[in-house]
This record gives sequence, C-alpha cells and structure tokens, in this order.
Amino acid sequence: MPEARNVKPRPFPPVRPHGELKEVFPDVFRVSGSIGIGPMRFSRNMTVIRQGDGLVLINTVRLNDGGLDALDALGQVRHILRIGGWHGSDDAFYKDRYGCLVTAVKGQRYFEGNTAEKGNTYFEADQEMDADSELPIQGASLYVVNTAPPEAVLRIPAAGGTLITADALLHWPHADENFNFAGKVGMTLGGMVKPYTMMKPWIDKYKPPRAEVAGILELGFENVLPGHGEAVIGGAPEKFRPAIEAYAGSAG
Ligand SMILES: [Fe+2]
Repeated sequence: MPEARNVKPRPFPPVRPHGELKEVFPDVFRVSGSIGIGPMRFSRNMTVIRQGDGLVLINTVRLNDGGLDALDALGQVRHILRIGGWHGSDDAFYKDRYGCLVTAVKGQRYFEGNTAEKGNTYFEADQEMDADSELPIQGASLYVVNTAPPEAVLRIPAAGGTLITADALLHWPHADENFNFAGKVGMTLGGMVKPYTMMKPWIDKYKPPRAEVAGILELGFENVLPGHGEAVIGGAPEKFRPAIEAYAGSAG
C-alpha cells in the first residue's frame, strides 16, 4: 500500500477539448485531448489497452459523454496505470466512475500544481508498482527513471514492442488542434514543440540520471505512443536516439 498521506480531495477537473478514440494496433487505442495550465492549453494523449473484456487506461484524459460511450463500448475499465509524475489529473474521475484499480509508480504522489515538493495531495492510488511488479497487461514491463517524482515508461509487446510514455519521450512536430494560442506560443518558445524529443521541463527541473535515460533505447521497441504529440510508428529508436544521446552523453 502507498504511504498514508493527508489527502485533500478536489473537484474533478473539467472535460477539455479532445478527439476520438482510435485503434492504433489491435486492442491498443488512443485519444488526443488537452490539459490547461494557466492560460495555456496544449495536447496530451490517453492510451487504452484492451485485455479480454477489460480495459487499462494510461495517461488518463477525461472524455465527454460521447467519448465515455465510445470507451464503454470497448470494454469495462478495470485498471489505471499512472506512469508520469506530472500526469494523472483525471485518474480520480475514472476511479470514481468505474471503481477501477489505480496503480502509481512507487514514490509518486498526486500533488496539486506543478511542484511535487509542495502541492496538496488530492488523490491516492490503490497500490504502487515498480520494475518488478506484475502488470495487468499481458507481456508488459515497466522501466522507471528515478527522478523525484519517478517517471516510468511502459513497454507492451504490440507491433514489435511499443513504449507508452508520459513525459519521458514526446513527439510534437507542430502545435496541433488541441493547443490554444497561448499554449502554442508558450510551449513553442519553451522548446517543447519538437519532433522526437523529451519533455524539456522534466529534463531541466529533475535532471534524470543520464544512464537511465540512455537505457530507454535498450528496451526493445519499434513504436512510441507518447503522452504528448503524435504516435511514432516504426523505427522509433533511431528517431529518438539523437535527442536521448545528446542528453545522456552531455556533461554535468
Ligand atoms: Fe506531460
């Protein structure tokens, strides 16, 4: 069980603009939505994995009624895996709606705002996971980058190996339809709107161990379904290698 904390529940964040659930690989679905931070709105993605008649949600994005109907048509939501230290703001909504089991990475906390050291705890996972944990997805494994809070990459066997990331890897070749103007300007000037990269604030603020970031390239994969941006289908290691090696090989 997670460490007991003083939890101050908050209202569920509102539904924000999003697209439609699309099947990327057999039993692997994805929907592009958005998140608001101050005046900025920018895109983020939820991945849904079907296991028999059950669903596992990763990087939850609250959907509108039509979106929830489409989700329900895929199966029964049974699990949430919270992989990103900065993600999961809609986990509480799905927990409330479905009574599903929520699993976060050991050492993570659901905190308000952007500062892990300060914000109130607004929610708690039912259990924790690490690289040795049995996961509710057949053949899946978890790779943990030991930042504070930790950031995980989930590998599933689909299509020769597929990584699902939150902020560790992202692919925003351009500001898409789920950005507003402030988001487009802010995230572009901030150096986040780039192809085949990593979330710059995560790198700058938490300085993930370089060897652990380099280790992502060794996970055995062809594709990446990032928490932000477009799906990268085929040849993903070579596409991300320059950004990863530029960071992992740099001094300091
Ligand atoms: Fe993110």
